[in-house]
Amino acid sequence: MALKNILVTGGTGYIGSHTVVELLGSGYNVHIIDNLSNSDRSMLERIHQITNKIPYFTQLDLRNKIDVFKFFEKHTKFDGIIHFAALKSVGESVFQPLKYYENNVVGLLNLLEGSSQNNINNFVFSSSCTVYGSPDLVPVTEHTKFGHTPSPYGATKQMCERILDDYSYSSSDYNTISLRYFNPLGAHDSGIIGELPSGIPNNLMPYITQTAIGIRPYLAVFGNDYSTPDGTAIRDYIHVMDLAKAHVKAVEYFALQTGKVNEKINIGTGKGKSVFDIIHSFEKVSGIKLNYKIEGRREGDVESIYANATKAENLLNWKAELSLDDMTRSAWNWEQKYRKEG
Ligand code: NAD
Ligand code: UFG
Repeated sequence: MALKNILVTGGTGYIGSHTVVELLGSGYNVHIIDNLSNSDRSMLERIHQITNKIPYFTQLDLRNKIDVFKFFEKHTKFDGIIHFAALKSVGESVFQPLKYYENNVVGLLNLLEGSSQNNINNFVFSSSCTVYGSPDLVPVTEHTKFGHTPSPYGATKQMCERILDDYSYSSSDYNTISLRYFNPLGAHDSGIIGELPSGIPNNLMPYITQTAIGIRPYLAVFGNDYSTPDGTAIRDYIHVMDLAKAHVKAVEYFALQTGKVNEKINIGTGKGKSVFDIIHSFEKVSGIKLNYKIEGRREGDVESIYANATKAENLLNWKAELSLDDMTRSAWNWEQKYRKEG
């Protein structure tokens, strides 16, 4: 049976907002819940500008069990949930572990308990390649075992996947897919939505665009002494619009199945790119010479990780289509437009 009404937690955030645009464009009705801890209500207007549709919105903190239960008493008609809402700063989680366990793990428990009143049986979870830790072999497949994750953030992703496994096992008809994202980059082509980190960015791409636009003096490249072709670390960077489409495919997949679903799926391009690859792509598409300095390795960084993404292709009929240049170009377009127009 086709799914129609989708609840999106964290839908005003970076990946959530791009996914909401894709869901609305594919004809789904969307209701966002978000506590706006790392996003802004103005995102709703931006989504409207792109899609000509306004998603329903409820400001709600998933840590508040009573509010979550009240929400599901009032709103009973969802066919599926996409759960983005989480805290995501790896470094911060090391220093504030309890905040991360409460937000990411308790938030999921409240959502599952609250929604169970309404028999919502289709659940997509935002997981991460961080669950693999530092793998011995790349590319990683979904059979690659969980590795040691040095950060509490990574531990919350492993725990949430386990909770979903146990919950799915306990029920005859609970469908769940954990999408293990690799490294999302870029923005919607319009430049109306994109990634807007609060404060100093931790991630590579926003640091590059903020350096190029003059907000940061230079990019620190964390290590050029890795055992990789150019000495810098390797990741699987994926365009956020490709990632958004993978969620629509996951929702479609639920509708096509008659049996129970419990899947973990890598969402990446299958190609490893180095920090220098990203810098060179950015310089090419922007025509700007980026100011960067080589510094020491960042604690906790993995040398190399990229996906074997064939399961996503076989199961979801999804494949990344956009190139690295598309990612860096759209990120730069978004940064310039945002700084000019807000
Ligand atoms: P984001 O911070 O932009 O979006 C998360 C949204 O969730 C924000 O709008 C925030 O306000 C909301 N939120 C957080 N805690 C909440 C709570 N308790 N109740 C209600 N709303 C809450 O992050 P993002 O980059 O869009 O990431 C989305 C998901 O994808 C997260 O689960 C993240 O861990 C996961 N992920 C992100 C990356 C990445 O590099 N961006 C990589 C892998 C996985
Ligand atoms: N890097 C720099 N300089 C910077 C920032 C990053 O050289 O200023 C390097 C890092 O050392 C790493 C690469 O760029 O080699 C990518 O770093 P990011 O911080 O952009 O991404 P990570 O791979 O460390 O982690 C990201 C998210 C995690 C998520 C993971 C997998 O931050 O939340 O991708 O999806 F779990």
